[in-house]
Amino acid sequence: MNDKLLRLKKNSILRNMCAETSFLSDQLIQPIFISEKITDKKNIPGLGDNYVFNINDSFRQIENDLKNNCRNFLLFLIPSQKSEKDFNLDFQSKTINQIKKNFKDDIFLWSDVCLCSMTTHGHCCLFDEKQNIDNHKSLNALSKIAITYANAGVDGIAPSDMMDGRTSKIRLSLDENNHDLIPIMSYSSKFASNFYGPFREAADSSPSFGDRKHYQLDYRNKNDALRASKRCAEEGADLLMVKPGVYSLDLIQPINNLTGLMVGAYQVSGEYAGINLASEKNLLKLNEGLFESWHVMKRAGAQFIITYGARKSKELGFSVK
Ligand code: PBG
Repeated sequence: MNDKLLRLKKNSILRNMCAETSFLSDQLIQPIFISEKITDKKNIPGLGDNYVFNINDSFRQIENDLKNNCRNFLLFLIPSQKSEKDFNLDFQSKTINQIKKNFKDDIFLWSDVCLCSMTTHGHCCLFDEKQNIDNHKSLNALSKIAITYANAGVDGIAPSDMMDGRTSKIRLSLDENNHDLIPIMSYSSKFASNFYGPFREAADSSPSFGDRKHYQLDYRNKNDALRASKRCAEEGADLLMVKPGVYSLDLIQPINNLTGLMVGAYQVSGEYAGINLASEKNLLKLNEGLFESWHVMKRAGAQFIITYGARKSKELGFSVK
């Protein structure tokens, strides 16, 4: 028997030499929640050392994260005032502006662009009088949000709403407003998933009626998921994404092959909570479990990973370059 898989596993030096996947701390993106109505930072059930912050506490968190080599953030902004059509974006604008003024280019700041934290009904879109999705109105609102965030100084836009044509509409609006160099990281293949629970708690964005199956992808369908990402690529997305990440491993390489664009994976709140809660019950070690899950997404072809554990970068031994 000549085929010995044991031979190259003798010790960690040899195993490291033969490791096919490794990555840099900048390939991990840390979500951060900032709410207008929060006074003391608020726990998010299942998400360990992730909190909903007020603006001042978020500064302290980011300072701390920077010390731990974590400097790539995805921002979720939660205004206290909800609406159905005219969105006042002052809180969002002020927050982005203050963060970028303070941290300058020491951080890369992506902002999620969606309506679910801003609407009275908690959906990612606007409706017409008959309660059907009004795609046109939704796109207008989304592009207004994207321009406002760009004007406030955000580094990158991440649309997560799943309306038809949002990427081209947002790209066009950004370009028309002198933001042609702001990249779009599109949530291109996003499923209507059961694993967004802790997030919705944090982002105050649970739909007050129905669910998101009218606009997010059906997890039974691979072809729709490929088509959705292909379309985002054609509409001008710079980066694509699958979500939930660990539950979409089969799509990562095919999307890259199809579009030629880099594909990231979002380890969503429910996926992260699964590992975190198991570790709290001593069923596994948190850091090792995260490390494994991230490498598995990398192995599947993910270029970058959005994860609630990105701030553990240094602790887990990721290098800066
Ligand atoms: C907003 C949005 C959601 C997530 C990211 N952006 C929730 C949803 O679509 O219902 C989920 C992220 C997570 O669970 O970590 N549309």
